[in-house]
Amino acid sequence: MERNRALSFLITTITMLLLIAVAESKANTVVRLEMKHRDTLSPPSPFRHIEDIKNADQKRHVMISKKRKSKGGGGEAVKMGLGSGIDYGAAQYFSEIMVGTPAKKFRVVVDTGSELTWVNCRLREKGPDKLKNRRVFRAGESSSFRKVGCLTQTCKVDLMNLFSLANCPTPGTPCSYDYRYADGSTSQGVFGKETFTVGLTNGRRARLRGLLIGCSSSFSGNSFRGADGVLGLANSDYSFTSKATNAFGGKFSYCLVDHMSTKNVSNYLTFGSASSFANKTAPERTTPLDLKLIPPFYTVNVIGISLGDEMINIPAKVWDANNGGGTILDSGTSLTLLADVAYKAVVSAFERHLVGLKRVKPEGVPIEYCYDTKTGYNESKLPQLTFHFKGGTRFEPHRRSYMVDTAPDVRCLGFVAAGSPATNVIGNIMQQNYLWEFNLVASTLSFAPSTCL
Ligand SMILES: *[C@@H]1O[C@H](CO)[C@@H](O)[C@H](O)[C@H]1NC(C)=O
Ligand SMILES: *[C@@H]1O[C@H](CO)[C@@H](O)[C@H](O)[C@H]1NC(C)=O
Ligand SMILES: *[C@@H]1O[C@H](CO)[C@@H](O)[C@H](O)[C@H]1NC(C)=O
Repeated sequence: MERNRALSFLITTITMLLLIAVAESKANTVVRLEMKHRDTLSPPSPFRHIEDIKNADQKRHVMISKKRKSKGGGGEAVKMGLGSGIDYGAAQYFSEIMVGTPAKKFRVVVDTGSELTWVNCRLREKGPDKLKNRRVFRAGESSSFRKVGCLTQTCKVDLMNLFSLANCPTPGTPCSYDYRYADGSTSQGVFGKETFTVGLTNGRRARLRGLLIGCSSSFSGNSFRGADGVLGLANSDYSFTSKATNAFGGKFSYCLVDHMSTKNVSNYLTFGSASSFANKTAPERTTPLDLKLIPPFYTVNVIGISLGDEMINIPAKVWDANNGGGTILDSGTSLTLLADVAYKAVVSAFERHLVGLKRVKPEGVPIEYCYDTKTGYNESKLPQLTFHFKGGTRFEPHRRSYMVDTAPDVRCLGFVAAGSPATNVIGNIMQQNYLWEFNLVASTLSFAPSTCL
């Protein structure tokens, strides 16, 4: 008896040591996923494209505002967030993930504004396959898939913010969800826990077990063109980010290539630290990242914007997240959205510098300030736009990221008026050719210009 106990203690200790060793070795390894811009899959016409982008950005912004309003509210308010959910309307970057056992590959939209990771899915093997041209995850064929029961605390309470439904005819029924998108798209399915396989930079593979996954059996609408699902990277207990960063050093990073890039370039989404800043073209800068102010989004403390030497006159309340303002960084929004008063101040500052250029209103381009660049445009003479963070850190986006290529010989200011008060959103075009590292342990955001190669 004693001997058995001693043996079992020894085994437990060895197991713990092994687990710690595994955890430590994982903390030193890095997961790297390839990321591609959506346009590399099916290049749309430029005019149509910018129209799509602006529409999708605005719908997504409605969703962000609704989420904020529902924060801290009662059951009613939570349902509001539940009813909309265009979390991924305009997301632009794709990655591939490996799901289940044996692992199957899926192409997913990478979205820092979304909490749930889901894929096209069939719970049972039978039944017609309606999802043509898209990969379908057959949950019944994966030995590691576990349904989340509809009677569980997880379903009834924890996943309410992730759109779980209350219907539960029998205890064995899986927990279901129903997204209704602001643009009329919908997506329905059931929650499960599943194993994800990720490639490490050392060439090996690691398995992340027990991650929440949405098994989407149906959806409609244009939001997910070309995608098999969504990789949810928002800061939430149930997002891919929380598990992956727990396992790999508390950090993730990405580098976004130019959105108009016609080359089939890809960049990386990385979990873990290592030498992510290896290819930077200037030293990285760091600013606090607030993970609690506007959950589940990544909030930065912008306190001003300048153009050239001129500090633009914008009221401080625009940047105050405690009063309906504040700024988030989002991989799923394309253009940069500013509260009305900030938008007006920024575009008029630009207008003063662009007086020599002919303003144009190309058909189908819904952006207000567009210019003919055939004659008299010299990009290197365009003044530098700078976002000033509290504490003195500055973000100086590339000129192509705010004077955006829209059509042949047409460039537009990449800003959209977002209402008043409004959440300001630094979109993915503004983030181009920068490496962004989100440190969820230290609550910091580091960034450096990069070729993203
Ligand atoms: C890019 O795509 C083209 C075909 O579209 C292919 O021929 C070429 O090899 C690709 N280049 C790279 C670097 O992958
Ligand atoms: C840096 O860039 C080179 C190509 O220029 C590439 O081979 C290498 O993987 C990059 N390193 C990192 C850490 O991204
Ligand atoms: C653009 O401006 C820069 C800096 O003033 C100058 O060196 C360059 O020659 C200009 N390019 C053209 C095409 O005018």
